[in-house]
Amino acid sequence: MRMSVIGCGYLGAVHAAAMASIGHDVVGIDVDARKIDTLSRGEAPFFEPGLQEILTEGIASGRLTFTTDMSRAKGAKVHFVGVGTPQQKDGYAADLTYVNAAIDGLLPYLSEGDLVAGKSTVPVGTSAELAPRIEATGATLVWNPEFLREGWAVQDTVDPDRLVVGVTIDPTTGTPDSDGERAADILREVYHPAVAKNTPFIVTDRPTAELVKVAANAFLATKISFINAMAEIAEVTGADVTQLADAIGHDARIGRRFLGAGIGFGGGCLPKDIRAFAARAEELGRGESVAFLREVDAINLRRRERAVELAVASLGGGVFKKNITVLGAAFKPHSDDVRDSPALDVAVRLHGLGAWVTVTDPAAIENARRIHPQLNYVHDRDEAIRGADAIILVTEWDEYRRELDPSHAGSLATGRIVIDGRNGLDAAAWRAAGWTYYGMGRP
Ligand code: UDX
Repeated sequence: MRMSVIGCGYLGAVHAAAMASIGHDVVGIDVDARKIDTLSRGEAPFFEPGLQEILTEGIASGRLTFTTDMSRAKGAKVHFVGVGTPQQKDGYAADLTYVNAAIDGLLPYLSEGDLVAGKSTVPVGTSAELAPRIEATGATLVWNPEFLREGWAVQDTVDPDRLVVGVTIDPTTGTPDSDGERAADILREVYHPAVAKNTPFIVTDRPTAELVKVAANAFLATKISFINAMAEIAEVTGADVTQLADAIGHDARIGRRFLGAGIGFGGGCLPKDIRAFAARAEELGRGESVAFLREVDAINLRRRERAVELAVASLGGGVFKKNITVLGAAFKPHSDDVRDSPALDVAVRLHGLGAWVTVTDPAAIENARRIHPQLNYVHDRDEAIRGADAIILVTEWDEYRRELDPSHAGSLATGRIVIDGRNGLDAAAWRAAGWTYYGMGRP
């Protein structure tokens, strides 16, 4: 099927390449000429396992092209809109400038019967605002949210755990109208490999589809902040939050995933999405319904400070002129993304207190250096640890969690203090090697 993908950032670039990889004819469109040049050369503009391969393959096959020219969208049957919806500069709400610009740019090239499929994470109610403009051209608007995780983005796109499609509903029957039925059928054809595997395919109304995405992210963020709140209680009672998480996680209704206590969540999605959701609920007069999301955010931000407090306390009440090695910069492992990274935030705070901070990371150093040039960056892990008074793990890469031998680290560092900001290290092994180990929410 011929399709266009408007917006070639994280979501769009992966979506375009993934769609080509399952046999579609795809043109990726973005206003950023540099990004388009990079993608056209078949180079992944960011670190994402599997992306490079499908980009190269797609371009070689001739099924995948990239351009800044919106007119190339003409003739495509489906137009995916995957532009960013960042947090507004002066508030918490989502900034819809790029969504509106993408739709305005696309309108002249839409034909009767085309499908516009919104993928961006938007405030509930956005499709209702966009629909009249799109439908005036004879095209149909559907909302088809994306649940991809960085690091698993290709797999999540090709083989998602569910597909959600928000379509127009006939008010008398409460089921999709003929346009809606047709739209759902086209998307079944788009996602044919997943559909063939009986992946749940949920056809609903557009506001529900918009809400599914923000509700899922709000739930995940709440789960993390819940366990981090328990970590705060554990810290004053001598309890161990990791054992608590294991114990409650055995209850199938709760589940162990996303109960990893530590320095909390970051990245380009969860923090901004819960803030935008709270802001949207207020606009709708239902601020109190999700007021807890403010707490979720506050708990999350407190955990970064807690890691800094542990560093200060462990080094005798101050970090001034102490050598601290920060293991990690990315907001999570398998990613070079440093947007709202708790790891970098901890590093910057320690630097602000006068510590000599050395940051290392397997993938994110260049991105980190761009936004925080004041920190010292070292690519080699062992070089970074050499001479440290304390080390602090803030991104649980396997390079640190599994592959860093505590005795070896001890032969490089000056001090024997380790702060485990992700509860990812084997505490007993580090203690046995002579280190004083501090976890998050652990005695
Ligand atoms: C998230 C959602 O998972 C995804 O479905 C959505 O489409 C986009 O937002 P992503 O931002 O890639 O994906 O990261 P995710 O793996 O969800 O992790 C988010 C943050 O939470 C990371 O900083 C991670 O370190 C942190 N986290 C995760 C915890 O602190 N504890 C956990 O138990 C799990």
